Amino acid sequence: MRLSQISSELSILISEQQIQEATERLGREITQYYANFPEPLTIVGTLKGSALFVADLIRKIDLPLRLDFVELSSYGNDVHTSGTVKINKDIKSSVKGQHVLLVEDIIDTGITFDFLLNLISGREAVSVEMACLLRKPEKHRTGIPVRFCGYEIEDHFVVGYGLDYRGLFRNLPCIAILDEETRKQADLR
Ligand code: IMP
Ligand code: MG
Repeated sequence: MRLSQISSELSILISEQQIQEATERLGREITQYYANFPEPLTIVGTLKGSALFVADLIRKIDLPLRLDFVELSSYGNDVHTSGTVKINKDIKSSVKGQHVLLVEDIIDTGITFDFLLNLISGREAVSVEMACLLRKPEKHRTGIPVRFCGYEIEDHFVVGYGLDYRGLFRNLPCIAILDEETRKQADLR
């Protein structure tokens, strides 16, 4: 079975073209925001979901920067957050004296990003800001101060462009809504 066969049945929420438009716009906004600061900039992406977004986004930021990743988990294999965040991998570099931009693929309840903000905030960075490709504003349980956001979406479980269901669909080039039927098929894999 080809991924394209499965994805042809999914309803596309955000196309490849729209993703590209968002990364270009965010790249410009981020460049403008950090352009006049003398301190270095470090981008911290969240694995694995934001890997594709971060890879595209940093090439649209016209500034010298460093890149690091954390891996956090809260979902396990479900479509609902467990509410408890676990650090699987911390950043390698020190962020002391630097501007840090945390980059998330999607903010749902906000619990993961809130946890990450607290984790990095205690490390003597000059500033800590947040960027995401997608957010589901109706679901936020905590007030998450996101400075750079691609798109606000309604409360759907979405896959593609890094986002997964049970580890699948990350390589879909667009963002699609995971329907019940496709979810059941994925449960069999
Ligand atoms: P939060 O802690 O509820 O904000 O969830 C954040 C994390 O859950 C994101 O980084 C994603 O990895 C995952 N997540 C939330 N919503 C979705 C979705 O619709 N599709 C796939 N993953 C999601
Ligand atoms: Mg994530």
